[in-house]
Amino acid sequence: MVFVHLYLGNVLALLLFVHYSNGDESTDPGSQRRTQSPRPVSTLGPLTRLEGIKVGYERKVQLVTDRDHFIRTLSLKPLLFEIPGFLSDEECRLIIHLAQMKGLQRSQILPTEEYEEAMSTMQVSQLDLFRLLDQNHDGRLQLREVLAQTRLGNGRWMTPENIQEMYSAIKADPDGDGVLSLQEFSNMDLRDFHKYMRSHKAESSELVRNSHHTWLYQGEGAHHVMRAIRQRVLRLTRLSPEIVELSEPLQVVRYGEGGHYHAHVDSGPVYPETICSHTKLVANESVPFETSCRQVPPTPVPLTPGNLGSFCPQVNLWECLQLGTRSEAPLPYSYMTVLFYLNNVTGGGETVFPVADNRTYDEMSLIQDDVDLRDTRRHCDKGNLRVKPRQGTAVFWYNYLPDGQGWVGDVDDYSLHGGCLVTRGTKWIANNWINVDPSRARQALFQQEMARLAREGGADSQPEWALDRAYSDARVEL
Ligand SMILES: *[C@@H]1O[C@H](CO)[C@@H](O)[C@H](O)[C@H]1NC(C)=O
Ligand SMILES: *[C@@H]1O[C@H](CO)[C@@H](O)[C@H](O)[C@H]1NC(C)=O
Ligand SMILES: *[C@@H]1O[C@H](CO)[C@@H](O)[C@H](O)[C@H]1NC(C)=O
Repeated sequence: MVFVHLYLGNVLALLLFVHYSNGDESTDPGSQRRTQSPRPVSTLGPLTRLEGIKVGYERKVQLVTDRDHFIRTLSLKPLLFEIPGFLSDEECRLIIHLAQMKGLQRSQILPTEEYEEAMSTMQVSQLDLFRLLDQNHDGRLQLREVLAQTRLGNGRWMTPENIQEMYSAIKADPDGDGVLSLQEFSNMDLRDFHKYMRSHKAESSELVRNSHHTWLYQGEGAHHVMRAIRQRVLRLTRLSPEIVELSEPLQVVRYGEGGHYHAHVDSGPVYPETICSHTKLVANESVPFETSCRQVPPTPVPLTPGNLGSFCPQVNLWECLQLGTRSEAPLPYSYMTVLFYLNNVTGGGETVFPVADNRTYDEMSLIQDDVDLRDTRRHCDKGNLRVKPRQGTAVFWYNYLPDGQGWVGDVDDYSLHGGCLVTRGTKWIANNWINVDPSRARQALFQQEMARLAREGGADSQPEWALDRAYSDARVEL
């Protein structure tokens, strides 16, 4: 049961790496939140958001001097658009070439020995675990409650069959109904479970994400085509140049035959305890939870066995665990995702938005005991919207709902998306994530500081340089 494996590992990582941010400070996140809210320095203008109008709506835009582009609305929930011919065929080939020169790394590494070690000193009781997992509080663990935890970035993707196989191997579910009572869960011997895990090494097709990727720098001094693409994205998004220039480099991803990426959202939740590392470079704040914009592993968090139970239920368990793990990059803050298709794929490889424009969103109807709509190896055909890869086309969408004040609101659940199984050939894509700190004041501070560095220093203080260096250290990618 990989999820429990990782789950326990993560809980343990939380416990092992527990620290108090300050000896005499309260460990109640609430009190820290109140006393350490950032001081607004200046206010930034509202974040631009294109209007969707209606599905199928097309508008003409001038992004380059020698031709027009058309932006077509694909869905309103999430607010999703498509632009054919955003990149030329030569640009697509160049990006692939640059990525190959730089070298690609596996997008997801297999669970490591660290977890095994961590588990041997497990301190969280099985009862506590049970309570955290039992989302509907009916005293029983349904398959889908277990499946709901499989978004763990570093883990294996679990199917209902995998879980039942594991149950029967370690005799966790004597009545074989796929549901664990508290009694059955408590009777489970974790050592059997560890043994089972060790004897079932994951294949790459069993991971959340099966691809290779690299990052291409787009800042000052980068290849002129990379610069030109960044400028085009700037005109497309109509955001301020500071925001776009201070975002992540271009991520280039290769999916071989058999590659996939199960459905996920590109951005993390917004809550005041978290801080995005791209702005933390300058924000001198002490916050209990730190998340990163993909590039740096998060630092340990001040969770304790005492506050674990009381904190986690307030947020998604997965998000809570992510904040506390060291070996996984947490979900970043990404205001927008701009995805480019770099080649025509022979078979499969669509981008699926399983709940696009669904009337309502309900996690438990997404993840059922038998069909998990997030599973892009098996159930892409059941998703509401699929975009077929076509060389040069860009799609982009907003990962957050507006907050009504021109800044970032809640994560848009409808932005859930994944890469369907590539059945034939290879699929190449690239991603530009536009990073915005959910705290407007912190984003303002960040931009001011980066501007100051650029004014005062030489080449070494280029904001892009600072960020790029941080990215170059990134190994663990969700
Ligand atoms: C950061 O905050 C600490 C304590 O709050 C203070 O001592 C330090 O001078 C600050 N650093 C900067 C660069 O503002
Ligand atoms: C990719 O496919 C589209 C049709 O779907 C075609 O118009 C285009 O020429 C193809 N591009 C390449 C480089 O094969
Ligand atoms: C999609 O919408 C329908 C109608 O409101 C609803 O019954 C279903 O549960 C929704 N699906 C998901 C995954 O939320």
